[in-house]
Amino acid sequence: MRNKTLLFGLSCILLAYYTYIPIPENVEEPWKVRLIDILTKITMLTATVFEYMGLMKIEDFFFILLRTQNIEPISDENLTVIDTEFNNIPVRLYLPKRKSERQRPAVIYIHGGAFVTGSFKMLSYDFVNRMTASRLDAVVVAPDYRIASQDLFPAALEDCIFVIKFFLQDKVLEKYGVDPAHIFISGDSSGGSLTGSVTQLLQDDPEYRNKIKAQVMIYPNLQVIDTWMPSYREYENGPFLSRELAIKVFLRYLTEDEELPKAVLRNEHMPEGSRDLFKFVNWSHFLPEKYKKNHVYREPILGKLDASYPVLLDSRVSPLLANDSQLQRLPLTYVITCEHDILRDDGLIYVTRLRNAGVPVTHDHIENAIHGAISFATAPISLHSGSRIIDKYISWLQENL
Ligand SMILES: *[C@@H]1O[C@H](CO)[C@@H](O)[C@H](O)[C@H]1NC(C)=O
Ligand SMILES: *[C@@H]1O[C@H](CO)[C@@H](O)[C@H](O)[C@H]1NC(C)=O
Ligand SMILES: *[C@@H]1O[C@H](CO)[C@@H](O)[C@H](O)[C@H]1NC(C)=O
Repeated sequence: MRNKTLLFGLSCILLAYYTYIPIPENVEEPWKVRLIDILTKITMLTATVFEYMGLMKIEDFFFILLRTQNIEPISDENLTVIDTEFNNIPVRLYLPKRKSERQRPAVIYIHGGAFVTGSFKMLSYDFVNRMTASRLDAVVVAPDYRIASQDLFPAALEDCIFVIKFFLQDKVLEKYGVDPAHIFISGDSSGGSLTGSVTQLLQDDPEYRNKIKAQVMIYPNLQVIDTWMPSYREYENGPFLSRELAIKVFLRYLTEDEELPKAVLRNEHMPEGSRDLFKFVNWSHFLPEKYKKNHVYREPILGKLDASYPVLLDSRVSPLLANDSQLQRLPLTYVITCEHDILRDDGLIYVTRLRNAGVPVTHDHIENAIHGAISFATAPISLHSGSRIIDKYISWLQENL
C-alpha cells in the first residue's frame, strides 16, 4: 500500500513537472502535442531507468513499445499488399490492382525511427504508403533495413541501397509494371537522412546515375557536426524530440562508445583538423535571416576527444558534408521542415545549399507542426498537421510524376 502511495505521489510530481514544461505558443493542437511530449518524456525516463538497472537498452525499450503499432499486410479492393524480401531484406509492397495501360511510377519509402526503431509495419507508415499507392496509382516499396543497436552504421544504409538496386533491375521493374523513368525515393526523419545519403551515393555511381527522378525528405536529420544550431537551442527540450533524446539515440547508430554522445551533447566532438568541414553546415551563412533571430554563431570546439571517430567526417552519415560539385548532380528535391523541431535547421540548410548548387528544390515549412507529425496522423493521437503533411507529400508527388 505504501509503495503504491509512493508511486502515485511520484507520478503526480512527474506529471506536474512535465505539464509545467512550456509548449511553444503557435503550435497547433497544443494539448495533443503536450500529451505526446509528456508520454515521450515518461517513456525516455523509464527506458533510462531500465537501462541503468541493466534490464534493457534504451532503444530496445522504444523498439518493443513501437512494435505494438505493427500491422499485417492487408490488401483491399484497390491494392494488393504483400510482405516479401528483396535481396534478403524485408519489404512491404503496395501494388495497384487496376489494369493499367501505362507503366506505373514507383515510390521507395524509407521509414523513420532514429535508426534504432520503426518499421514499415507500423500503422502510421502503412497508412502513408497505402494512401500513396492508391492516390497515385503507383507501386510503393517500403524496406525494413537493419537497425541499431544490433547493427551499426552503415548497415541501414547498405540495406536501403541493396533494396533499391534490386528493385531497379530491368526484370524486376518489368515484373511490377514500373516505369524506369519515374522512380522516387522518400523518407521521414532518419529515413529522410537515408534518402539523402542513398540519393547522393546513387548519383555518384555511374551505373545508377539519373535513375532516380526525385527525392523527398520529410524533416530529415542531415548532420552531426554542429548540434548547437538555433533550432537545437530553441527546441532543446522538445516538444516530442528533445536534443538529449535525439543525440543519445542517434549516436547508438554510430558507436557503442559512451564518450562520444557526451561530447556531442557538449558540441565538443569534432576532431582537430576538421574545421574546414564547418563551411558545409555553417548556419550563420546558410540559414535565412528569419531563423537566425538573435542567436550568435559559436564554432564547435575541436580536439577534445582522444579517440578518433571517422563516422563524424563521413558524408554518408551527414549528407550536408557533400561538396557543391556532388550536390549539383542531385535530382529534383522536395524538403518538408517543421518549425517546432530541433532538426529544422538541418533541412533549411540543405535547401539553401541545394539551391546554391542549382538543384531544383521545392520547400514547404510547416509553421505550427512538430517533428514526427506524420507518425501522428492515425489513432490513438492524431494531429491535423500530420494529415496535412501527408497530403502535401502525396500532392507534390502527383504534380511531379
Ligand atoms: C478504391 O478506389 C476508389 C476509387 O478511387 C475509392 O473510391 C475507394 O475508396 C478505394 N478503396 C479503398 C479501400 O481505399
Ligand atoms: C560562418 O559564417 C559566418 C558568416 O558568413 C562567417 O563570418 C564565419 O567565418 C563562418 N565560420 C566558419 C567556420 O565557416
Ligand atoms: C568533392 O568531393 C569529391 C568526393 O569526395 C571529390 O572527389 C571532389 O574533388 C570534391 N570537389 C571539390 C570541388 O572539392
